[in-house]
Amino acid sequence: MVKTTVSVIKADVGSFPGHSRTHPKLLEVAARMLKEAEGSIIIDSHVTHCGDDLELIMTHTKGEDNEEIHELAWNVFTECARIAKEMKLYGAGQDLLADAFSGNVKGMGPGVAEMEFEERGSDPILVFMADKTEPGAWNYFLYKIFADPFNTSGLVIDPSMHDGFVFEVHDVMEKKKIRFSTPEESYSLLAYIGAPSRYVIKYVWKKDGTVAASTSTQRLNLMAGRYVGKDDPVMVIRAQSGMPAVGEVIDPFRLPILVAGWMRGSHHGPFMPVGVDDANCTQFDGPPRVICLGFQVSNRKLIGPVDMFDDPAFNRVRDRCCELADVLRAHGPFEPHRLSLEEMEYTTLPAVEKRFKDRWEDIPE
Ligand code: F6R
Ligand code: MG
Ligand code: MG
Repeated sequence: MVKTTVSVIKADVGSFPGHSRTHPKLLEVAARMLKEAEGSIIIDSHVTHCGDDLELIMTHTKGEDNEEIHELAWNVFTECARIAKEMKLYGAGQDLLADAFSGNVKGMGPGVAEMEFEERGSDPILVFMADKTEPGAWNYFLYKIFADPFNTSGLVIDPSMHDGFVFEVHDVMEKKKIRFSTPEESYSLLAYIGAPSRYVIKYVWKKDGTVAASTSTQRLNLMAGRYVGKDDPVMVIRAQSGMPAVGEVIDPFRLPILVAGWMRGSHHGPFMPVGVDDANCTQFDGPPRVICLGFQVSNRKLIGPVDMFDDPAFNRVRDRCCELADVLRAHGPFEPHRLSLEEMEYTTLPAVEKRFKDRWEDIPE
């Protein structure tokens, strides 16, 4: 049986005004380039944006980490970056850390979430895309979706989910990975993923090995060795028939959870679920936003999208996010609005501290 691969590859290649949103011209060019590749390199595609991030959603049969797929995405990003430079858009080409493609976009700046699977009788997927936050932002939600019976009633009620799920966690600092099986090892899993700047959930599987979720774990600053904004992650989740229901997958986003990112990638802020039309970062370059597009994957075609957070059921969390934003903004440059010093090492703050390096004097005992 031919397997289906879903690849979501994203990059910020320039935006307007400032870091608010991707220009429609870039969306148009990206959509056209992917359409032209349909029938040869890929099967189907959808292009969108979350804030200043250009998002390419593609289906094909070539598996994860495929050179042709990654090269196609790279070519789209470089062409859009060229146009962005011509238009003098802000941060034109900022996430493209290499000059030329070399086999795989991982490590070159773009974020990648891919999964390969045998299509079930009917296969709903949800594609989540975020701006102004880091890959670990998904940790909380993935735990709620796949391991918390107070969120996902199927873990208790549905025999096909009752065995639980397996989580692959990456230590993005040490470049190591580990797997935890839930519910048995839930507390051990939480011991790590509760520190999302370092420990990031990369995959979730059913216990029989069927893939259920895949995320992007690229940390731009660690790659570039300098501040280049947050990573603005993406995630793909399969739903229904032995996986959490669509409603169970999106329900945790009704809670106003704080994530790292926002202005200058240096602040905690509420993670606000919005429809695509509201996926423009405004207030204090944010607040961090997440969109979710729902599709049916049908013989490798994408039926959809449905704009899942464009819904009055999510109005209240948006209001609560605004209230939290007020509380945090009142702190100005103080923690816990500003990130901890450890996390600030990956921002522009060290360059300021450097100026005062020689003015610090020892305090006599
Ligand atoms: C956050 C982000 C923005 C910028 C901010 C300053 O990921 O990209 O909040 O950090 O607008 O940008 P520069 O330094 O380019 O003026
Ligand atoms: Mg940007
Ligand atoms: Mg961004």
